[in-house]
Amino acid sequence: MVTDPQSVAEAAELLLAGRLCAFPTETVYGLGADATNSDAVLAIYETKGRPRFNPLIVHCADLAMAETLVEFSPLALRLAELWPGPLTLVLKARPGNGLSDIVTAGLDTVAIRVPDHPLALELIRATDRPLAAPSANPSGRLSPTSAYQVRLGFGGRVPVLDGGPCKAGVESTIIAVDGDRLVQLRAGAFARDDIEMVLGVSVETAAKDAAVSAPGMLLSHYAPRAGMRLNAHPQRGEAWLAFGPGEEFAGPMRNLSPSGDLKEAARNLFAMLHELDAEGVETIAVSPIPKDGLGEAINDRLERAAAPRG
Ligand code: TXA
Ligand code: MG
Repeated sequence: MVTDPQSVAEAAELLLAGRLCAFPTETVYGLGADATNSDAVLAIYETKGRPRFNPLIVHCADLAMAETLVEFSPLALRLAELWPGPLTLVLKARPGNGLSDIVTAGLDTVAIRVPDHPLALELIRATDRPLAAPSANPSGRLSPTSAYQVRLGFGGRVPVLDGGPCKAGVESTIIAVDGDRLVQLRAGAFARDDIEMVLGVSVETAAKDAAVSAPGMLLSHYAPRAGMRLNAHPQRGEAWLAFGPGEEFAGPMRNLSPSGDLKEAARNLFAMLHELDAEGVETIAVSPIPKDGLGEAINDRLERAAAPRG
């Protein structure tokens, strides 16, 4: 077991020394490294067992910091007004921005966001560096929404700055700004309908074979150990992940939101899958979840969790 940092200053010291440190964001815990240090960024890929073609999100303290790394069109600037928040923008890299090439996996764009979490923002300011941070879990597994899940996932080998449970619970929404088009590359904690409503601009879904895509959107992902059956009622011997006012069940069971609130369901999703998985069941049956609002991100994660594993 490594020793966890007890303050933002201690976490910043680790990062500035080129070490990894997990930290909380409003979505999920991130496995952080100084995005300008190639050795540190490489350690992220090694620790996660992440394929090298899958680029990382760069976390900034504010728009001013982001502007040193990427170019903002007027439309991109309007989206950036939604920061801090669970929204990642894929924008053209500025040449000579100081980022390690490994962060972008050779692309000429950078995925960038300003997280809405006081500890994350303090940490970026304390290091005065952009921080590369994918979700702090072994590649392909469930994302962590607490420091405990980070420790469990990496067997205590990664220091964690503990900021309590994450309030959103699913990853950020990723949007590529392509001229005057907005393309959603990953559904996430900022509901697409809300972005459209605030900006008055429509947001397209990335086609499966589109030229602009998020290379990390592998079909099997976010997977618990147990198998998953979606839109299902549990059978004997299975566990049940329910949604909405439901019947009782004799086996292991969690309810994402008894009142049918999608925000509460998103916050609980990974934590409850972790818990049911820990009970050692072979299959988790999942009730149908509405597809509107945050339901888009929840259904996306569930479909990947249920996909055949390679
Ligand atoms: O909420 C979040 O976004 C969390 C927290 C820690 O901030 N981070 C996160 O990172 O989910 P990760 O690495 O698990 O997901 C990053 C996604 C991947 O699907 C990757 O392919 C995509 O972002 N991505 C990164 N850079 C890209 C780029 N230049 N163009 C397109 N997609 C990119
Ligand atoms: Mg991830």
